[in-house]
Amino acid sequence: MFKYGSPLNFQRWLNDNQHLLKPPVGNQQIWADGDFMVTVVGGPNQRTDFHDDPVEEFFYQFKGNAYLLIWDRGRYERVELKEGDMWLMAPHVIHSPQRPEAGSLCLVIERKRPQGEHDALQWSCAACGTLIKRYEMQLESLVADLPPVYERFYATSEAERTCRECGQVHPGRAYQAWHESLKLQPPN
Ligand SMILES: [Fe+2]
Repeated sequence: MFKYGSPLNFQRWLNDNQHLLKPPVGNQQIWADGDFMVTVVGGPNQRTDFHDDPVEEFFYQFKGNAYLLIWDRGRYERVELKEGDMWLMAPHVIHSPQRPEAGSLCLVIERKRPQGEHDALQWSCAACGTLIKRYEMQLESLVADLPPVYERFYATSEAERTCRECGQVHPGRAYQAWHESLKLQPPN
C-alpha cells in the first residue's frame, strides 16, 4: 500500500546500518527510487573533489562536526556544520564536504535530477583556485555514477593535473597534500 513502506525508527535504522556509515562505504541511502534521495553520511571522510549540484541540498549534522569547502570562481571559503546545525544549500553552490571526525553523522536530502539538468564533479588548484578538471553527467544514482568519475580523475597524468596558472601539481586523491596547500579566503 505504501510505496516506501511503513515509518522507520531513525535510531533503529542507524543501529542497523552503522557498519555502512564508516569507511570504506561512508554513506547509505534510506529509501531507493524516491523523488527525495535521503542519505546518512558518516565520517571520517576527506576529499579533494567538488560537487556542482543542479538541485538544492539539505544538511542536518546531527552527530559530531563537519564542514563544507565552497569554491566560488576560484576562491575558497569554509562553511562550518557544527553538531546540531541544519543548512539548505542553493543549487550550483560548488562544494566539497569534509568530515574529519570518526563517528560523525549527517542527514542529507536532495532531489532526483530532472532529465537534462547535469551534475558535475570538479577539481581545482589548492594554491590559486584555478579549475583543473570538470566532468559533467546526468546523475541517476549517487552510488553508481560518481565513483567512476573519481577514478577517471585519479588516472590522469601529472601533466594533466598541473595548474596552468601557478604550475602546482594537483595530488589527485591525496587529500592531505591538497589540504596542506589550500589557500582559504580570510573571513570578513
Ligand atoms: Fe594554481
